[in-house]
Amino acid sequence: MSALFEADRLQMRFGNRIVLEDITLRFGPGELCGIMGPNGAGKTTCFNVLTGRYRPSRGQVRLDGEDITGLRPHEIARKGVSRSFQIMNLFNDFTARDNIVTALPGLRRRGFDVSHAVAANSAFADQAEVLLERVGLAGKGGVLARSLSYGDRRALEIGVALAAAPRILFLDEPTSGLGSDGTARLAALIGSLKGQLTIVIIEHDMRFLFSLADRISVIHWGQVLAQGTPQMLRDNEWVRNSNLGKLQ
Ligand SMILES: Nc1ncnc2c1ncn2[C@@H]1O[C@H](COP(=O)(O)OP(=O)(O)OP(=O)(O)O)[C@@H](O)[C@H]1O
Ligand SMILES: [Mg+2]
Repeated sequence: MSALFEADRLQMRFGNRIVLEDITLRFGPGELCGIMGPNGAGKTTCFNVLTGRYRPSRGQVRLDGEDITGLRPHEIARKGVSRSFQIMNLFNDFTARDNIVTALPGLRRRGFDVSHAVAANSAFADQAEVLLERVGLAGKGGVLARSLSYGDRRALEIGVALAAAPRILFLDEPTSGLGSDGTARLAALIGSLKGQLTIVIIEHDMRFLFSLADRISVIHWGQVLAQGTPQMLRDNEWVRNSNLGKLQ
């Protein structure tokens, strides 16, 4: 399969510290790819390089064949790359709807005051409503982000990331802080998006990841230690001998 998104031989160093040693990854159109690995392995740093927060010390990042290495995060975002953060990134004093409206590309281009824009153009509100429904938040558009349950906030984050109509979505530990009900709900939501765009998920919850992913890459010591389908990774000796392979 030709790759939508490619990272070739990435290295990331901070001073003398090499956090990513040599990372090569491929994500195909419509694929759902998982990234697992122990704490401090370099997973979030990898996302930070892929989405332009850090420029790699070596290597190349390509989107649909185009070299996007070293572009600024907003430039990469504009090309159709969205991400959610390990720590949530919502406007707490905005409603769920307005959190999504602020992320709609049409509104960003116009660049005028959000509250006026919302009042002035109900088309944005309609688009937001569709996205709220898509992430399971129908009827909650008027609720302040801070008043939503934790699981709803996680879903809203995904709605915000989807507002830009991305081709690829990076999610950094989306289940963190969720109980089993919340995790099941999130799995259903991500399952419903599967195939519509490329999704890459960093996760510690192996049951969640193994049930959703087409392919999984294991990152450790700044390298890709193993890669394959969930079944291949279940059988991988290194994964079996580590804590990562224990399905919770
Ligand atoms: N800006 C930075 N400067 C120096 N070191 C950094 C920087 N960002 C990350 N690191 C280091 O890189 C290593 C990998 O961190 P990273 O956050 O990528 O790990 P992770 O795999 O996401 O871990 P976790 O599962 O705990 O989220 C850590 O030791 C961290 O301290
Ligand atoms: Mg991390």
